[in-house]
Amino acid sequence: MKRSARYIIPSSQITQESAYLNRRSFIKSAGLAMAAPGMLLGAAGEVAAARARAVDDPTLYADIISYNNYYEFSQEKTAVAALAHDLVTDPWSVSVEGLVKKPRKYDIDDLKKSFGAEQRIYRMRCVEGWSMVIPWDGFELSRLITEADPQSEAKYVKFTTLLDPKQMPGQRKSYFSWPYVEGLRLDEAMNSLTLLATGIYGKPLLPQNGAPVRLVVPWKYGFKGIKSIVKIELVARRPVSLWMNTSSAEYGFYANVNPNVDHPRWSQRTERRIGDLRRVRTMMFNGYEKEVADMYKGMDLARYF
Ligand code: MTE
Repeated sequence: MKRSARYIIPSSQITQESAYLNRRSFIKSAGLAMAAPGMLLGAAGEVAAARARAVDDPTLYADIISYNNYYEFSQEKTAVAALAHDLVTDPWSVSVEGLVKKPRKYDIDDLKKSFGAEQRIYRMRCVEGWSMVIPWDGFELSRLITEADPQSEAKYVKFTTLLDPKQMPGQRKSYFSWPYVEGLRLDEAMNSLTLLATGIYGKPLLPQNGAPVRLVVPWKYGFKGIKSIVKIELVARRPVSLWMNTSSAEYGFYANVNPNVDHPRWSQRTERRIGDLRRVRTMMFNGYEKEVADMYKGMDLARYF
């Protein structure tokens, strides 16, 4: 699978929110003399940055950390950050297990050290009809899976969030079957766009965004991006996600962004970018069609929604 340079910018080129905010004026001026102090981008970096900017404006950090879906804490988006504030994310471990030859439990610091982080700017489209553009820091999930050495029977990857009702007030309520579980087909998990994220805008993830590590699958609806992961399991059979358990007619296993397949209760044709009042058209596979469409060749996307 070829990577698209349009969406990928190495962290060495962009580390600060101010750089994003300044880039608009930089691009308008189209000259290095006007570059904001601290940007220190090379010529190649400028081209990559300008391209990414031309595609999408990143959402403000303040919005990314204050408008959240994290039902373990609250069903109210703007209440999540305060309620999640004290989540203990260190010590933390992530176990990689199931149908692998080399199961391993990673301490979060080891995980970060072993795999490092690069910065990638991805669109995130929530199934509810809003979207953001987020500069994630993370690494490709494929690297972790390769290290675990999957057995040949492994066909899917199952992810599980921390279960800790003491820390997570939502888990004391039975509106969902906790813990939060998500899944991907193995080839989706191995796609080079699929990340495990540990940061945003060069800062460590905050609890409300899924600290210390969460999944990012940019061509799928945001709910596939499971937060605060403690277990990654290679399995033979398709996992049943929390959302499939909750309402299988509304939330399927695939959850690929698709403007042509409506949610039973609303249209998916358009979306509102947080920080912008207008609605824009939703793109097939959230704009990542070139990178991912091959995986779904011949599938009826209305049936496998
Ligand atoms: N992960 C867990 N564990 N619990 C959740 O409630 N919400 C999902 C997803 N991951 C959720 C989760 C949904 S519905 C969305 S849209 C995204 O997280 C939101 O991510 P953000 O708050 O970082 O924007």
